Amino acid sequence: MKKLAAGNWKMNGTGADLAEVRALIAARPEPDCDMLLCPPATLIARMAEVARGSALRVGGQDCHAAASGAHTGDISAAMLRDAGASHVILGHSERRADHGETDDQVRAKAQAAIGAGLVAVVCIGETEAERDAGRTLAVIGGQLDGSLPAGASAATLIVAYEPVWAIGTGRTPTLAEIAEVHAFLRSRLRGLIGAEAEGLRLLYGGSVKPSNAAGIFALPDVDGALVGGASLKAADFAAIVAAL
Ligand code: G3P
Repeated sequence: MKKLAAGNWKMNGTGADLAEVRALIAARPEPDCDMLLCPPATLIARMAEVARGSALRVGGQDCHAAASGAHTGDISAAMLRDAGASHVILGHSERRADHGETDDQVRAKAQAAIGAGLVAVVCIGETEAERDAGRTLAVIGGQLDGSLPAGASAATLIVAYEPVWAIGTGRTPTLAEIAEVHAFLRSRLRGLIGAEAEGLRLLYGGSVKPSNAAGIFALPDVDGALVGGASLKAADFAAIVAAL
C-alpha cells in the first residue's frame, strides 16, 4: 500500500501561509507517498486551489455528523467536500478534550464523512496516566471499537494512533512501543473489518519530525504519519515526505 504523510495544521495558518504549500508542492512534485494537509476550515478552498493538479490532497479537521441544519459554527462533511477536501480528521484528542467528543460521536461523524465521499482519519490514543497504569492497549482498543463506523474499508478509513502525551511535546514512545501498538491495532482491525484490515493505513502521530521520521516509518504496520507542528513548514514536511 502507498504510505501517507498527513499534516494537521490545527488552529494555525492564514492566507499568507499558502506560500508554504506552494513550496511543498515545488519540493515534492512526485512524492513516493500520498501527501495530505488539513488546514483550518477557512483555508480549505484556497489550499485546494493551490493544490489543484498536484500530488497534494487537502482535508478538514472535523465535521458535524448531520448533513445540514441548525448547528451554528459547524461544518458538514458535504461542505468539506464541496470546498475541495478529500479527507477529514475525526476524534483528534484535542477535540475529545476541548469539546468532549465521545467515541459514539466520532463514529457518527465518520459515518457522515464516508457517506459524503470523504476518507475519515479517525484518531485514537492514550493519555500519559493511562500508559503509566499499563492501560494503553485497553484504552485504544476501546476507542477503536467505539469510533469505527459500520462498513468501514481500507479505502474509506484511516486510523491514526496519537499518544496524547506525545503530541506537541517532543516526546515519543520508543520504536518498540509504537510497533507493539500498531501490531495490536492491525490485529484488532482484522476482528472488526476482516481482510480490509490488511490494506487500511495506520498512521503514527505525536512529535514526528524530520529527525525521527525514518525510524518510525521503517516499523511494520506503520503506514505513514499524522504530523502537527512539523507540517507547518514546507522544508520540515518535505523532509518527512522524503523519509516515507
Ligand atoms: O494530529 C497531529 C498531532 O496531534 C501531532 O502533533 O505537533 O506533535 O506533531 P505534533
